[in-house]
Amino acid sequence: MCGIVGYVGDGEAARFLLEGLTRLEYRGYDSAGIAVYDGEKIRIEKSVGRLSELKKKIAGDMPKGVCGIGHTRWATHGRPSDTNSHPHADCAGDFVVAHNGIIENYMTLKEKLIEKGHRFVSETDTEVLPHLLEEVYDGDFESSVRKVVTMIEGSYSLVFMSRRDPGVLICTKQDNPLIIGLGSGENFIASDIPAIINHTRRTYIMSDGEIAVVKKDSVWVTNNQGEPVTKKVFEVNWNAEAAEKGGYEHFMLKEIHEQPKAVRATLSSRFAKDGSSVVFDELKWNVDFLKSIDRIFIVACGTAYHAGLVGKYYIEKMARIPVECDIASEFRYRSPIVDDRTLTIVVSQSGETIDTLAALKEAKRLGSRTLAVTNVVGSSIARDADQVVYTWAGPEIAVASTKAYTTQLIVMLLIAIYMAELKKSMPEARIRELIEGAKNIPAQISETLEDTEPIKTFAKRYGFNEDVFFIGRSLDYDVALEGALKLKEISYIHAEAYAAGELKHGTLALVKEGIPVIALATQRSVYEKTLSNIKEVKARDAIVIGIAEKGDEELSKYADHVIYVPEADELLIPLLAVVPLQLLAYYAALTRGCDVDKPRNLAKSVTVE
Ligand code: G6P
Repeated sequence: MCGIVGYVGDGEAARFLLEGLTRLEYRGYDSAGIAVYDGEKIRIEKSVGRLSELKKKIAGDMPKGVCGIGHTRWATHGRPSDTNSHPHADCAGDFVVAHNGIIENYMTLKEKLIEKGHRFVSETDTEVLPHLLEEVYDGDFESSVRKVVTMIEGSYSLVFMSRRDPGVLICTKQDNPLIIGLGSGENFIASDIPAIINHTRRTYIMSDGEIAVVKKDSVWVTNNQGEPVTKKVFEVNWNAEAAEKGGYEHFMLKEIHEQPKAVRATLSSRFAKDGSSVVFDELKWNVDFLKSIDRIFIVACGTAYHAGLVGKYYIEKMARIPVECDIASEFRYRSPIVDDRTLTIVVSQSGETIDTLAALKEAKRLGSRTLAVTNVVGSSIARDADQVVYTWAGPEIAVASTKAYTTQLIVMLLIAIYMAELKKSMPEARIRELIEGAKNIPAQISETLEDTEPIKTFAKRYGFNEDVFFIGRSLDYDVALEGALKLKEISYIHAEAYAAGELKHGTLALVKEGIPVIALATQRSVYEKTLSNIKEVKARDAIVIGIAEKGDEELSKYADHVIYVPEADELLIPLLAVVPLQLLAYYAALTRGCDVDKPRNLAKSVTVE
């Protein structure tokens, strides 16, 4: 995820900016930049790659000045490059901006600004911001920024610097974190606490819509109506390591909690204004394209493969095109039946997994059209595929994938709806229903995360069992596979997922007294069938932990415990049902004293075969 820093005081701004950005490196980034006002002009220095590249570039000639902003970029709009790096400037170089998040209406704004004569140099959404400020600036920096903010839609944290207003930084935020560090004779701005922790522990945590005017000896905060806000000082008492994790004990837990935001970001800009359809600017497919495809392969590894299984279900159900989902290391060696009427969708968080990359190359060699679903802009898989749809989960640091999975499911859902619209294979009313449902998912994930106590209790109680079974039917089975993978990856408990109907063909022999069985029963269309499978394991004295929708009064009669998730459409509920399974794995690993973020023998990105 991008990082923002700002400094105003008497010290050397560039020194703080580089140090602050270094402390944000753990968040992942692909390029970096700083802008410092030197008393005359704003000097901007940027570089693709690691911060060390930027440091090398300016070694011996550091920008001089006491006010500046800096940024580490995690590319979303436009590939990683010097030009696309932040800060971005207006035409005259009077205003610079660093931005985290997404400006959803940037295309419309950009077109209007170009008509008015503004010259754009980057592919980013961010660049509209300095140009907008240039356009509306009336001599009053604060009110001009306020005007800009009313013109933009999306999620962001922003810091503005103006050559015409020396010694002032203005910042604001919407759905993205931003803090102000209070120093003496100097103040700091950052997207994240680690950036400032060496300088001050006294902070203001900015709320959505607030605008702060930050000078070296004052910080003036107003709400979106322009009314003054009295902020409470938040004293940070975390150490640097805890600060990186945003106060969570592990990156995995932080990332689980980031899911509402990640899913919201991935959904953003992907619906028509009236909510009636899905928009994929990056695909621009038409019905002829879909008619030219007679089969789809979804190919991936690990968690991404599990997301692919859900994708198969979505596409077949909605767009009625046959889909095969395959493990990349199998696909690449098994002579798949692929030709120019095939669309191969590869799914990869990192975009670097060697088996997935090789499978993509093999599909291309056989003549397939290719689409990558990935989280990393400019990654090898993104570059190799014909087309790319990005998940906007932000960097995932914990080895066990969580927010990447839920954002992959959302992209799969959007792709399936998009295809169904083009093929007219699903009634319009159903499309609207699913779109409305998808928009609710971020809030419903938050709701699922509210009460984790029962999950902690189960994890403690059953955390030391050597075997755990997960069962479910239909989409519940796909989620069960991901739940079992999470548990084995980080807690080293032997966990297996089975299609509930398949139990009696073998696995039931393993079920005996006291064996925990996690039973997912969220799929209404197969609910009764799942219930009878639950009765089968219960009859063998297994301990059943059920996952059900709120309002389900039946399951608790047969299960020992039930974890409820909010009510949602049958197709969307996997996005909710997976959350308690992620938490169960997390707390089981904690109970067993495992290294949650770095499980033994596993790597985040597997770039060797
Ligand atoms: C590794 C990671 C998993 C991930 C898989 C695929 O095994 O530990 O969390 O699901 O690779 O990675 P990708 O980056 O291609 O999604």
